[in-house]
Order: sequence, then C-alpha cells, then structure tokens
Amino acid sequence: MAFDAKELRRVMGLFATGVTVITTRDASGAPYGLTANAVTSVSLDPPLLLICVDRKSETFPHFYDSKLFILNILAEGQEEVSRRFATSGGDKFAGIPHHIGRLGTPILEGTLGHIECLIVETHEAGDHVIHLGEVQDACTTDGQPLLFFRGKYRQLRDPG
Ligand SMILES: Cc1cc2nc3c(=O)[nH]c(=O)nc-3n(C[C@H](O)[C@H](O)[C@H](O)COP(=O)(O)O)c2cc1C
Repeated sequence: MAFDAKELRRVMGLFATGVTVITTRDASGAPYGLTANAVTSVSLDPPLLLICVDRKSETFPHFYDSKLFILNILAEGQEEVSRRFATSGGDKFAGIPHHIGRLGTPILEGTLGHIECLIVETHEAGDHVIHLGEVQDACTTDGQPLLFFRGKYRQLRDPG
C-alpha cells in the first residue's frame, strides 16, 4: 500500500526550504507563475536544476508552450507575493513589481535573485512532472530569505 499522502506532506514539511515563484509564459507571451519549493540544484557542469510542477496547476501547460522558466527566489518580506502565486486564478501579476526579461518571461522585483532556465528534459512523476532546466543566466542581490517550515512561513532567526 502506498504511503499516506497527508503523512508524507507532514513529514516533508519538516524539511525547511526557501520559497520561489517560478514564472513562465504561454505561446502568446502571457505571463504565468506559481509558488514552489520543490526545487533542487542538480548539476554544476552542465548547470542544471529541477522543478516539480503539479499537473493540476493552471501554469502546468505553459511550460510546454515556452520550454523555459525563471526561478525567482523570494526575500523575507515577500510572504504576500508567495500567497498570491500559491492561489490559482486572476491576474497574479497585477500590482506585483516585475519586468519582462530577455526570455520574454516575468522577473519579479525585490527578490534575492533569479535564475533563467531552458527546459532540456521533462519526466513524468505521479501527479507532478519534473522539468530539468539548463541555467542560462542568474542574478543575485543581498537580503534575507523567506522560509517555509511545518506549513508556515518563517524568517531566519540569525540573519548572520
Ligand atoms: C510554500 C509552497 C510551496 C509550493 N510548492 C509547489 C511546488 O513545488 N510545485 C507545485 O506544483 N506547487 C507548489 N505549491 C502549490 C502551488 O503554488 C499552487 O498549487 C498554485 O495555486 C498553483 O498556481 P496555478 O494554478 O495558477 O498554476 C506550493 C505552495 C506553497 C505555499
């Protein structure tokens, strides 16, 4: 019998993560994005990272349109940005400071940085898919991260 889904969510909630918003666009250039923490650095040479996307999300089909994504790494003051992009529907980008990058995809402002990726492989993975992205460019700034632990947003206690 498969392990209980709620229990898996609870246990993995003990694995503290940062929070990202993954942005992409459809074939007409319309922007899409979702909050995600199932994100991992995979390889340095070549530079690869992976994202896991729920098949039920509205953003899901548009990764196939554009074959690219941008990983926006949220800063500690961006909990509302995370909540907005974790809720389907509406114009998620309205009132959220952003600009359109050279890949034609939105880059959020006020983050710790962003990483631009072209999708080079996609793997089926149950109710999600795994997109492997080859890093094209990255940009970082100073600041503290937004964290997620036990289902709640957190901040670093020791910002060092
Ligand atoms: C902290 C956090 C992390 C999340 N991580 C992921 C993730 O890695 N992959 C995913 O598909 N959804 C993830 N979600 C859920 C999506 O953000 C949510 O389903 C969203 O509504 C999808 O938006 P869309 O339907 O407009 O694409 C996460 C939500 C939160 C709050």
